[in-house]
Amino acid sequence: MEIIIRETAASATGIAARIIAKLLRDKPAAVLGLATGSTPLPLYRTLIEMNLDWSQVTTFNLDEYIGLPREHPQTYHSFMWENLFQHINISKDRVHIPDGNAADIPASCADYEARIREVGGIDLQVLGIGTDGHLGFNEPTSSLASRTRIKTLTRQTRVDNARFFGSESEVPHHVITMGIGTIMEARTNLLLAFGENKARAIAEAVEGPITSINPASVLQMHPAVKVCLDEPAASELKRADYYRWVYDNKPAWQTF
Ligand code: F6R
Repeated sequence: MEIIIRETAASATGIAARIIAKLLRDKPAAVLGLATGSTPLPLYRTLIEMNLDWSQVTTFNLDEYIGLPREHPQTYHSFMWENLFQHINISKDRVHIPDGNAADIPASCADYEARIREVGGIDLQVLGIGTDGHLGFNEPTSSLASRTRIKTLTRQTRVDNARFFGSESEVPHHVITMGIGTIMEARTNLLLAFGENKARAIAEAVEGPITSINPASVLQMHPAVKVCLDEPAASELKRADYYRWVYDNKPAWQTF
């Protein structure tokens, strides 16, 4: 894991944006995995401002609520079109978001996995982290080998996400999420976390044991993970000084 700690979320976001921009320049037909929530919003704004060419890019989103009408403002479909896709030259038929209204959800999850395989796998997956360590909506105790499927949200995640809805009772209980096994097959994983409320989940994920109680800890087994943090999100890391030293002393050929 490469742990990148910056003073501010804006600075950490800038690094994540440069990593993605480089990928799109090096590989115009890249396959990106995308996340929603508050964490990647500034990243998407930065990518829009960079005026990159998305015409050959394919995307797969991590997750979606089950049962909300597609045009509901809180579906991840609405989120992605509003905050990224409508502002870039991406082709609509290359955008993939799990279908929370599919008649046969298990079959649509299997199709989602097949589609990812057909395009050759995900080059880079953008990830946020839940306060309970979830990745996508893989809640604690999710199988570390899981594939795209239905999950039931924990009370904590519904409380955390109530800020986007009118109240906790409006947050759906059920979701579709890429599995941890799916995420682990991305060639690169780029995890972003900002704010003190993520500090414990990050410390457990980066420096704790690998355990399904903190699903993000499985990233320790992935060969290419970059973790972009602001200082508050890094505040419980025991080896933060080492990570800062590594970043500050990168050989020129390794810088972003
Ligand atoms: C969203 C997703 C979730 C979020 C996580 C953090 O697509 O996959 O795992 O990344 O819940 O959410 P925020 O960024 O709102 O704190």
